[in-house]
Amino acid sequence: MPPTSKAPITILAIESSCDETSCAISRDGQILSNIIAGQAIHEQYGGVVPELASRAHIQHIVPVVDGALKKAGCLITELTAIAFTQSPGLIGSLLVGSEFAKSLALALDIPLLAVHHMQAHVLANLIPNYSAPAPDVPPGNRPLPSFPFLCLTVSGGHTQIVLCRTPLQMEVIGETLDDAAGEAFDKSAKLLGLPYPGGPLIDKHARGGDSARFSFPEPQIPGLNFSFSGIKTAILYFLQDQTASDPDFIRANLADICASIQGRIITILLNKLKKAARQTGVKDLCIAGGVSANSGLRTAFRELGTVEGWNTFIPPFEYCTDNAAMIAITGHYKYLNGDFAPLSVSASARAVW
Ligand code: KG4
Ligand code: ZN
Repeated sequence: MPPTSKAPITILAIESSCDETSCAISRDGQILSNIIAGQAIHEQYGGVVPELASRAHIQHIVPVVDGALKKAGCLITELTAIAFTQSPGLIGSLLVGSEFAKSLALALDIPLLAVHHMQAHVLANLIPNYSAPAPDVPPGNRPLPSFPFLCLTVSGGHTQIVLCRTPLQMEVIGETLDDAAGEAFDKSAKLLGLPYPGGPLIDKHARGGDSARFSFPEPQIPGLNFSFSGIKTAILYFLQDQTASDPDFIRANLADICASIQGRIITILLNKLKKAARQTGVKDLCIAGGVSANSGLRTAFRELGTVEGWNTFIPPFEYCTDNAAMIAITGHYKYLNGDFAPLSVSASARAVW
């Protein structure tokens, strides 16, 4: 049953699906705090090591939750419900957040809200405010998309085009058949000798580069699905060829190589999004997920929106990569819908959408 009380809805949300431990507090859908602790330990291994991630979550979770409550100026007794990422993600990491959330809900005797990480990325677009100063958006509340909207969700593990009819009614209408867009960035960066996670570094180097200098293929995948494994292989062979005759090729051409890789990933993404918008007739378009922090994608998305007559929406940077604010906003809508989880709910590495 949906709640009927007029008391404020104050939600404590926890995100721990991969290598960020995050806690956010929301009140009536506004974010009061969003604390994120990263895990530098994985850099030396060139990728996230699941066991190390779980241990780091255990170390971070209490100070992160405490920090979020303090920053929000919120007492634990003021909380209305606890939201947490239930799936998908690394099982050990999810378990730390889910068991913590369940214990808190049990101890406070308040409802529990189980959130799907990918749906939360989409709903980051419904967060009306931001908790930290963001250079890419004007101050004050931001304009929000109207329903139905389309969201291109691009993260380290997923690439999806989602048709969002209401906050809790979503349909995946296109997705990757192999690698995710974030993986394409990270694997390309690895081939270039850049440290993990390479996506932000490709973004940085691409800023001074010429995206037309090198050409990588655009896969011809039917419908609204994506494929990124071909581009990774094309880059591998290209770099093998070039470095065979010039061992200094990567260092000497890094900006142009990064700009060309990034440019191709962006055209693959946006050509499918354009197709989805034309097929559905939807005019409010969003992007979300870690790769939506990419400066080239943000600019190209806005430019395409102007040409196609879309209303375009991009979350502030702090809500693009993994964060608990998006779990809080999703929890808020679940609370309004009376969509509570039992204490017997368990975390799941894979999730059926
Ligand atoms: O959503 P997210 O934080 O975690 C997952 O749910 O996977 O996405 C992480 C992905 C990584 O692949 C990372 O390299 C990529 O987002 N990423 C970027 C940028 N910032 C993060 N890729 C390209 N440009 C960026 N600026
Ligand atoms: Zn994510």
